[in-house]
Amino acid sequence: MADTEQIAIVRVGPEDAAAGLALSSEAHWNQNEADWRYFLAKGTVFGVRDDERRLIATAALLPYSLGNAWISMVLVTANWRRRGLATKLIDACLETATKQGLTSWLDATPAGAKVYGPLGFTPTLELRRLRLDHAISTKAEAPPSLSPCGLEKFTARDGLVMGFDRANLLSELGARPGSRLLSYHNAMALVRDGRKARHIGPLFADSADNALAMVNAIVQSESGALLIDAVNEQGKFLRGLIGSGWKIERPFERMRFGRAAPQPADLPFAVAGPEYG
Ligand SMILES: CC(C)(COP(=O)(O)OP(=O)(O)OC[C@H]1O[C@@H](n2cnc3c(N)ncnc32)[C@H](O)[C@@H]1OP(=O)(O)O)[C@@H](O)C(=O)NCCC(=O)NCCS
Repeated sequence: MADTEQIAIVRVGPEDAAAGLALSSEAHWNQNEADWRYFLAKGTVFGVRDDERRLIATAALLPYSLGNAWISMVLVTANWRRRGLATKLIDACLETATKQGLTSWLDATPAGAKVYGPLGFTPTLELRRLRLDHAISTKAEAPPSLSPCGLEKFTARDGLVMGFDRANLLSELGARPGSRLLSYHNAMALVRDGRKARHIGPLFADSADNALAMVNAIVQSESGALLIDAVNEQGKFLRGLIGSGWKIERPFERMRFGRAAPQPADLPFAVAGPEYG
């Protein structure tokens, strides 16, 4: 193995989608190849290669609007950990973000938070990843009260809770095969494919009861395993999910680096996933 002092941080391109997917799959993450293709096409992805040119570590910076960017896909293959690779990769992301005047955000796993805290990231929001092993119905048909949601309406609601516009991201995620942009009374949510399970989020609603009713309607219209990244402050919603059989898999912590951003007035019930914010 090479000395990590000598290791070069390189830009990673679209030809590395499968190698990136191997890294996120090794960490048991849910990202699929479409997620990697999006980051490699729209973001700046940094990586480290070993002597045989195998990709052994990555970190991605995805610019959004109004001077914001998301850092994700921070991954180091198991036998290269604790040698400073993640730190070097985050430094590369932060240098790029600083040059472009971007505030960097990320959703950290507990191991990731140990790396980001000392680098100057501060926690902003607690999230919980929950999993439901089997959706209730095997019918592809949605219950009658679940209807398609327009992209414009969805992105406008997303902008209110994020504090900036993510129309490009949401239109791409919403247009993928198998994706469903749904509304249920005053609630709305995106459901999309992942590598191991379908993912619900972001999910917006005007009350915990409506958010829960929407999740239950989605569960009845889906088959197979489902994941949701719930906002911990939405306590009633979280308790309702657990009461309906959802199991907490892990916590995530939303963190910010750079200038303080005004706190949006509204909170979502579930986010788009740790890779997208
Ligand atoms: C989290 C992860 C990216 C860290 O990568 P890494 O290259 O090992 O991190 P670094 O070597 O730069 O660590 C820097 C410091 O962070 C802390 N740290 C890193 N991993 C840690 C862990 N698992 N537990 C406790 N502290 C940890 C330590 O203080 C470490 O310094 P030290 O080794 O001198 O004690 C890697 O463990 C990984 O890929 N995990 C699975 C995927 C994941 O959770 N990614 C983070 C997504 S937010």
